[in-house]
Amino acid sequence: MKKKGADRSQILDRLEHHGGLTPGASREIHKETGIPEADIYGVGSFYSLLARPEPKHRVCQGLSCKMAGSDARVAELKAAGTPYEEVSCLGQCDRAPVAIDAQMELVSWGPRGRVSPASADLPINLAGKEDPNWTALAAAKQMGAEAVLHALEASGLQGRGGAGFPAHLKWKSVRSQAETTRYVVVNADEGEPGTFKDREVLLRRPHLMLEGMAIAAWVADAQVAYIYVRGEFSAERRAIEAALAEAAEHVGDLDIRLVNGHGAYICGEETALIEAIEGKRGMPRLKPPYPTVQGLFGMPTLMNNVETLACVPAILHRGGAWFKDCGRNEAGSKLYCISGHVVFPGVYELPLGVSFNELVQAAGGPVGTLKGFSPGGASSGFLPMSLADTPLDFQSLAKVDTMLGSAGVVALNTTVHMAEAAQWQQVFFEDETCGQCAPCRIGCSIQRRAIDSFLKTRDPADLEHVEDVHWEMEAGSICGLGMVASKPLQTAIQHFPEDFGQ
Ligand SMILES: Cc1cc2nc3c(=O)[nH]c(=O)nc-3n(C[C@H](O)[C@H](O)[C@H](O)COP(=O)(O)O)c2cc1C
Ligand code: SF4
Repeated sequence: MKKKGADRSQILDRLEHHGGLTPGASREIHKETGIPEADIYGVGSFYSLLARPEPKHRVCQGLSCKMAGSDARVAELKAAGTPYEEVSCLGQCDRAPVAIDAQMELVSWGPRGRVSPASADLPINLAGKEDPNWTALAAAKQMGAEAVLHALEASGLQGRGGAGFPAHLKWKSVRSQAETTRYVVVNADEGEPGTFKDREVLLRRPHLMLEGMAIAAWVADAQVAYIYVRGEFSAERRAIEAALAEAAEHVGDLDIRLVNGHGAYICGEETALIEAIEGKRGMPRLKPPYPTVQGLFGMPTLMNNVETLACVPAILHRGGAWFKDCGRNEAGSKLYCISGHVVFPGVYELPLGVSFNELVQAAGGPVGTLKGFSPGGASSGFLPMSLADTPLDFQSLAKVDTMLGSAGVVALNTTVHMAEAAQWQQVFFEDETCGQCAPCRIGCSIQRRAIDSFLKTRDPADLEHVEDVHWEMEAGSICGLGMVASKPLQTAIQHFPEDFGQ
C-alpha cells in the first residue's frame, strides 16, 4: 500500500537525494514512499545523471566540441585512468571543448564566449547591469491583464524555445480556461547542441526571466510557477537561487519551485518536461490536448522559454511597437548563439532576421574558409555558404526547408568533412530519442548505421535509404525530435554531395 502523502512526483527528488540509482536506492525509496520499486527504477533509469551517477568527468560530444578536439580530451582522460563518460551536449559550445568534473563543475579548455556590448537599445542587453526593481511587474498590474496581452500582441513576440509560436496567443489561451488551477512553467532545459543563449540569460540577467515569469503568472492567474533547469547547469542554478531570494518580496503569493533536470535532452520538449515534473520518464505526450488546456497535473499550463520571458519586461517598459521594430522581417531582437569556426564565439543580441554572414561578422569574422553552417541547432541540419545571406528568422529558414529553432548557429570551415559532422549529429539523436515511437527509435538507429558504414566504405550505396527513412521519421514521429532527427545527414548529403562521393 502507498504510504499517505506519497506521490510519484517525489521520485526524482528522492533519487537525487540518494545520489541517483545507487545500489539499494530504489528499494530505500520504495520503503520510504510505498511507490513500487520497479516504478522508481523505471523512472530513474530514463535519466542519464541518475542512471549512471558514479563520479566521473563528462566530456561533451556536441558538434562544436568535436570540432575543437574533444576526442583528444577523451584520449587524455583515458591515458590518465580518469573515469569519464562521453555525453551529448553540455551547452557550452562557445568555450569548446568542455567537460564537467565529478562535482558537476565546468572544465573548459576554451576562453569564455563573448556577448554583445551593453546597450540600452537591446531588449535583453546581456552585458547590461541587473536592475531588479520589478517595475515591469508593477506596470503590468497598473495596466491590467488585457492591456498586457495587447502589448504582447503588438510586440509580435514569438516563442524563443524553437517553435516560434506567438506568445500572446498562448498567454490568452491559459487565461481563458474555465479551470482555475493553473501553472506557469519556465523551460530552462536548454540542451540542443549549438545552443547556449538561455545559459547567458540565467547567469547575467536572471531577474529578467523571473520578472517575465511573474508577469506571465499574474496574467494567467496561475498560483504556482515551476522553473525547470537542466541538471548540468550548476552555476546557472546558483544564479537563479540568488535572484529568487531577492524576488520573494515582489511576487506576492506566487509559489515558485525550482526543479532540476537529470540529463535528458528530450525533456526540453514541453510535454516531456511536464512528465518529468510529474515524476515520470520524460516521454512526450500526443498533442492535442495542448499544455495550455491540459498540461501539468492535467491543468492549464503556460510554458515559455527563458529568452521569451526575458523579453517581456522591455516590452512593458518601452511598448510593443518598440520591441517589434528591433527586428527586421520578424519582430524583436534575438539572442543568436554562434560557435565553431569564428573568431569570437558567443551570444549576440541582434535584430531577428540578420544573415549568417552578418552574424559571423559580429563574432569577429571566420576562422579559415567557411564551407557551411548549421542555422539552428542539430535539428536544423546544415546549409551551404550559398545560403549565407538568408535571413536567420522563422519564415525565411522554413522556405529553405530548415528552421531557426533555438538559434544555435555553428560555423564550419573547409577542415570539416561533412560526413563526419553528420555522423556526430546522428549519434546525438540516436542517444537522445526517448524511443517510444518506432519511426524515430528505429530511424535514428538506421541513419546512424548508414553514416557509420559510409565512413568505413566510402560507398554511396550505403546511403541509398537515407531519404526514405527521413520521410518516414518526419511523417510518423510523435514529437519534434523524431521529425527532424535525420536532418543532419539528409541535408549534408543534399548540400555537400562532394563529401559523399556524389
Ligand atoms: C526535442 C525538443 C527539445 C526542445 N528543447 C527545448 C528547450 O531546451 N528549451 C525550450 O525552451 N524549448 C524547447 N523545446 C520547445 C518546447 O517544446 C516548447 O515549444 C517551448 O518551451 C515553448 O516556449 P516558447 O513558446 O517560449 O518558445 C524543445 C522541443 C523539442 C521538440
Ligand atoms: S519522436 Fe522520438 S523522441 Fe519524440 S516521442 Fe517519438 S520516440 Fe520519443
